[in-house]
Parts: sequence; C-alpha cells; structure tokens
Amino acid sequence: MSVVSLKGRDLLSLADLSAAELQELLNLAAAMKLGKVNLQCQKVLGLLFQKASTRTRVSFSVAMYQLGGQVLDLNASVTQVGRGEPTIDTARVLDRYLDVLAVRTFEQQELETFASYAKIPVINALTDLEHPCQVLADLQTVQERFGQLAGLTLVYVGDGNNMANSLLLGCALAGMNIRVAAPAGYKPDAAIVKQAEALAGDRSQVLITEDAIAATQNAQVVYTDVWASMGQENQAESRVPIFQPYQVNDELMSHADREAIVLHCLPAHRGEEITDAVMEGSQSLIWDQAENRLHAQKALLASILGAS
Ligand code: CP
Ligand code: NVA
Repeated sequence: MSVVSLKGRDLLSLADLSAAELQELLNLAAAMKLGKVNLQCQKVLGLLFQKASTRTRVSFSVAMYQLGGQVLDLNASVTQVGRGEPTIDTARVLDRYLDVLAVRTFEQQELETFASYAKIPVINALTDLEHPCQVLADLQTVQERFGQLAGLTLVYVGDGNNMANSLLLGCALAGMNIRVAAPAGYKPDAAIVKQAEALAGDRSQVLITEDAIAATQNAQVVYTDVWASMGQENQAESRVPIFQPYQVNDELMSHADREAIVLHCLPAHRGEEITDAVMEGSQSLIWDQAENRLHAQKALLASILGAS
C-alpha cells in the first residue's frame, strides 16, 4: 500500500490534515496494526510534556522504538523549561538535536511558537485547545468497528474541551455527523465549530446543543471525557452538579443506536462523566481505543519522518 507522505510537516491541529490525508493515515495505522506494513526509520523523537501523561507518553515512545528510533523525555521538570527558559530559545536548540518533537502544554499559542522556531516537525500531544493524536486513534477505532466513517453519527457528551474541539474537526473531515451536548458556558471553541462546519460542508452535520438525550438519539458512537481537564482541577468539585445531566450511563445509552459503541480518551473519573457499568459494558471499546494510540501515532510518525 502507498504510505501517506506528511514528510517534514507539523501536526498542530487535526485541520492540518486534508480529508484524504486523514483517511490514508487511518488506513496505514490499520495496516500497521495488522502487521501488513512494517516501516523503519532511525530518528530521534523528543517528548516535551508540561502536563501528566500515561497513554500519550508511552504510546509515542513504543511507536518510535518499534520504528527503530529513539526517544528522549524532555519533561519540564528535568529540563531548563521548568526553570523558565524561553520557548523561542528552547525550540531553536532542540531543533539542532532532534528529528521530531511532540509537545504537551497549555496554550495552543505556545505550541505554535515551538513550531515556528523549530524547523523540525512539531506534533500536538495535547493542548487546552486540541488533542489531535487522540482523535486519530478514536477514528481508527470507529473505522475498525463499522468498516467506514462517512455517514456515521458521533455524539460527544460533556465539557466542550480539547477533545470536543478535535472531535469536531476529525468527524467533519471524515464525513461523520458530530453532535456536541454541553452545558451553557462550556461549549466547544466557537472558531473551531465554524471551521468544522466549513469542513463538513454538505457532506455531514455539525450540531452543538445543551440537550444530551436528544443529541444521543440513534448515534453510533457515544464519547465523553472528564468534566475538569488538566489545569482546571480547582473547578472539579463545582462542576459536578453542572455536568451531572451529561453523565454517560445506561439511561443515556438507551437513546443511542442499538449497535452504538462507547469511547473515552481516558483517564476517566468513574461515577462522574461515565458509570462503571458503561465503561465495563459490552458497548465499550475504550481499551481498543487506548491501544490504537500506538498504531495511529506510529503511522503518523512514519509519515512525518518519511520512514520506509
Ligand atoms: N488520552 C490521553 O491523552 O491520555 P494521557 O493523558 O494519559 O496521555
Ligand atoms: N480533556 C482532558 C484530556 C486528557 C487526555 C485534559 O485535557 O485533561
């Protein structure tokens, strides 16, 4: 199969990919998962993470090792980043050592500064605005289950956060209908909603609502995420009553398509945004979804680094 070429490109937002590139990347990830494609590149990936991570850190590391490359952990606490060295200096120095840099930080603007000062490819490993690598794995999981993406409906129930934003873009690019049910004051980013609407065009629908039950009607994919993201821990308690009607539980699932699957990017707060019963139930593909982080990011790295 042909390997999608993203050689030298950044991935700061899911919208950096065209619809065709996204589909080719998902197909490559599926082929790599099945062992049908084996690509190698002896390159070095840096992980500069200013927030905690289990899945992203480990899946990026294992992906790079499986490609024959190396990984350096540039956690803020072990580099001068933690002592306030300016981003514009760090970016230009790391550019001289590394082949690719994955950044997890707060402001999207900081990620963009890394990308504009480092000539090497920069990958968004999560910001407050977006989590594109997670959505690559999510769409891979949906495609695995349903055999296709176009025409399916995904409902995201909960906080209009980085996951909601990237799912809006990813679903629109893939020709899926996307509905986001979030309380007033917690809607997804308005500019990203507009961007998703433009990407969807007349191929699929984008709906933002406060009504979780109406949004879930006949959806094939039910998705949720924590009610307070990293950096918002001080709001965790006060958000619980606001978000309670947005819990993914058996009652909400009864409104979805009978064949619906449940996804969660993890980590989950069981008993808050999702019940134990749904998480452990037969509709949950959450563990396959987590595994697919590895395959999707391996495909992404291989494409960006020109592995052969
Ligand atoms: N889903 C996700 O990105 O998990 P981590 O925060 O553990 O990397
Ligand atoms: N919205 C969550 C996602 C974690 C993977 C956060 O930003 O903390």
